[in-house]
Amino acid sequence: MDCNIDPFTAVSQPKIPITLKSLPKDFAIIRHLHEPMTPMMQFRAMQITDLDAVVAIERQVQFHPWTKQQFLESLSSASHCSVLEQAGQVIGFCILQTVVDEANLLLMAIDPAQQGKGYGFMLLEQALAGLGERCVMVFLEVRVSNQAAIGLYEKLGFNQVGQRRGYYPSATGREDAAVMALTRDNIFG
Ligand SMILES: CC(C)(COP(=O)(O)OP(=O)(O)OC[C@H]1O[C@@H](n2cnc3c(N)ncnc32)[C@H](O)[C@@H]1OP(=O)(O)O)[C@@H](O)C(=O)NCCC(=O)NCCS
Repeated sequence: MDCNIDPFTAVSQPKIPITLKSLPKDFAIIRHLHEPMTPMMQFRAMQITDLDAVVAIERQVQFHPWTKQQFLESLSSASHCSVLEQAGQVIGFCILQTVVDEANLLLMAIDPAQQGKGYGFMLLEQALAGLGERCVMVFLEVRVSNQAAIGLYEKLGFNQVGQRRGYYPSATGREDAAVMALTRDNIFG
């Protein structure tokens, strides 16, 4: 359980400057990696009518889940909110917030019953591709204990570029966030 940049529960810290410890060298070419969608799978923009399903997934996977109102606010902002649907059922969602030529991955999740099947990779790959070529850098924060998410991000070409101490609330106090980044070359090859 965890989340990336969560402006509602995370400790308020200035976004910039981030100490860039390293930047990706070996760029994965995401458009060459993705699996073809089956006819049963659909990646599309999130709609208000998806919110009950999205909130239900969020509540199962997050320590401090976003509320329906928070998702509504993201939908009505400039965020890129998308869902992955399987046979008409929402099985995952992703929220990317763009600021000028950068994007932040705010939140993503796959229904626990559908995890480990490649859907998280498929969803995030599609969402990143949808950012457009103006976007030169994507940042995210992730709990250092969230090995599943870190593995997914690394598979997509993200590298850790910093660490924020005590960024997230946790059951035992606070937990550090790994700051990860992906450059435009990773996204578009
Ligand atoms: C993180 C999450 C989105 C991954 O989605 P998923 O559909 O299960 O992931 P995939 O099946 O696409 O796996 C892609 C890669 O992620 C990594 N990964 C996925 N699950 C993993 C696990 N349990 N342990 C370690 N690595 C894992 C692997 O590198 C995997 O590639 P591989 O199958 O070639 O080894 C999902 O676990 C989830 O929703 N977690 C709860 C919410 C969350 O943590 N969101 C992210 C922060 S907001």
